[in-house]
Parts: sequence; C-alpha cells; structure tokens
Amino acid sequence: MVKKITVLKGDGIGPEIVNEALKVLDKIGEKYGHSFEYTYVDIGGCSIDKHGVPITDEGMALCKSADSVLLGAVGGPKWDNCPPAIRPEKALLAVRKELGLFANLRPTKLFKQLADASPLKQSIVGNGIDLLIVRELTGGVYFGKRTTEEVNGELVATDIMPYSEHEIERIGRIAFETAMKRGKKLASVDKANVLDTSRLWRKTMHRLAEEYPEVEYSDILVDNTAMQLIKNPTQFDVLVTENMFGDILSDEASMLTGSIGMMPSASLSSGSLGMYEPIHGSAPDIAGMNIANPIGTILSAAMMLRYSFNMAAEADAIENAVNAVLDAGYRTGDIMQEGCTKVSCSEMGDLVVSNI
Ligand code: IPM
Ligand code: MG
Repeated sequence: MVKKITVLKGDGIGPEIVNEALKVLDKIGEKYGHSFEYTYVDIGGCSIDKHGVPITDEGMALCKSADSVLLGAVGGPKWDNCPPAIRPEKALLAVRKELGLFANLRPTKLFKQLADASPLKQSIVGNGIDLLIVRELTGGVYFGKRTTEEVNGELVATDIMPYSEHEIERIGRIAFETAMKRGKKLASVDKANVLDTSRLWRKTMHRLAEEYPEVEYSDILVDNTAMQLIKNPTQFDVLVTENMFGDILSDEASMLTGSIGMMPSASLSSGSLGMYEPIHGSAPDIAGMNIANPIGTILSAAMMLRYSFNMAAEADAIENAVNAVLDAGYRTGDIMQEGCTKVSCSEMGDLVVSNI
C-alpha cells in the first residue's frame, strides 16, 4: 500500500524523535511491502521563525490531504512571549479543529521492564497499570469564546465552555467501542455536581450506556478521579472525559508510569485521517543532544498503522520490537536503570529497527 504521511517535526527534540519513528516506518514498509511517502511541514516555533505564523495555510492543506499526520512536539521558551494569536500551541489546536480530530486516545501503560520507574509503591501498582484516557479534543473551553474586557475599571477575562449533545455523543461512542475491545469497563469523568456541560455529558453517556449493556459503566467526578488515579490506578480500564479534564488527567496518568517519554497518542476524526504524537513536550533543554527517548513517537507511529491504515500486524511488529529492546536492557537516559545499557536517541531507533 502507498500512504501519504504529512510529517510535522516541530520544535525542540521534535526533529530527533520523529526521525527515529520515520526510520522505523521505513523498515516496516520494506518488510511488509508498503510505501510511506513523507511531506514535511513546519509547525510551531520553527514556523513562526520562518513564516511568521505557527502553521501556514499550505501546511494546513497538506495535513488535510494526507492519509495521516505524524507530529513531534511544538513550543519552547523562545516563543513564550509571542502574541496569543501566533503562539506555537495555536497551530496544534488549529490542526485538531480543522482536521476534525475530536477523539484523543492516550494510553497509559506501565511497561513491566520499567516497573521500578513508577513513583507509586509496588503494592499500588500491582500487576501493572494499563488504562486508556479518551479525551474529547475539539470542544469545550479550548474552543469556546474568549474575551478580556474592562469592567468597572478592572480587567475581566472570560472563557466559555460549550458542549453540544452531538459532540458528547460521538466521543462517547468511541469510548464505549474502545471499552468493548479492551476490558469492557468505562468510567465517565465529569463535574456534574457543578457544571451544566457535565450534566449534559452525564445524561448523554447514560443514554449510550443502554446500548452497551456489556460495558461496566460508571460516573466519576473529576476531582475524585485525580485522587483515585494515585490511590488505586488499576481499577481503571477506559476513562472518557471532556477536553480540559482530559488534558490534566492524562498528564497525571502518564506519570504513574514514571516515563512520559514512552507514551504515544492518537487523535482521530470520523474518517481514517488521524494525527499521532508522543504526549510529552518539546524538551528544549535537551534538544539537539541526541539523548531524548524516541519510543513515545515510535509507538505513536504504531498507533498510526493500527488506527489509520488498518495494519494491525505491522503495528504489533513495532510494539514487539520495542518490548524486545527493553527486554534486552537498552535504555535512554530518562528510563535508565542499574545494570542496563544506556543508548542515545538514534541508537534506540536503530535497535527498534533491527528488532523488526
Ligand atoms: C496536550 C497539550 C496541549 C493541550 C497544549 C500544548 C495546547 O498540553 O496535547 O495535552 O493542552 O491540549
Ligand atoms: Mg497536555
């Protein structure tokens, strides 16, 4: 198969980690007879520097016309003082919105080889953490109207958090369908004791729950979820929640594994087009040093094969290769353990390639 991938390397460590994922994709192409064609588009700070905007219209068009998009990371202190309209993050939000990427899947898995990396006690981590956060990605307070205006001699800022039923229903369906393919357990996270959006969220989820009697469904308040993730994380299988709660909880959940560099993500639309990226940021402090962990990006490429291209065997091949490399004791600096062999970003990519 021929697949067109628009590649957004971005800022900081973005280019290094994406290069390793592309090596891995090339190897998959060679082994399974696919051809992955890459088109490179600037995004974030590098695009601001070159073009004056965080993504150009042509760049956006190239994302829309691709079969799929692979992203490294955007942003860095250099662009922190840019006006809000051209901040690096703006491009990311624009791509999500314009490509209709409403469903963000963020798996959190404690790799057995890295069990010691979890900041939680062994008695809490138990037989391993394996949960999935399904985050709504194109609605809520991220995309509601914002204003800052002067009222009675002082500034008042407002961010509106709108949710319509169809937006809740479509993310709910993804969550129930995903739960059916996993442990058949779904917790819907909201703040229904305070927010109207959450009350509509809950009502809509309850309606869907009737269609999925096999799924063990529960409602949980977001503050309690934050607590339960630390107290008893293995109780969760799939969690579904709105945009900002999902942003916050997914960072918290990723830390349960002690290694944010390992975590991939997928942002999906109603069609096969998706955007795939590691959940970590651009790590400007280690950019260009060839020491970043490329595994989150490599596993994101595996998710791309699985979700956008329907290439399950190829995705398995990547995930198995990552496991084999970890089993063999190779580690980048962020996950280094005693008795293991420390490798660079590019060596890690090479090791994964050679294990495919
Ligand atoms: C994420 C990031 C983004 C978000 C930022 C960079 C806008 O934190 O993907 O989780 O808040 O969605
Ligand atoms: Mg975030």
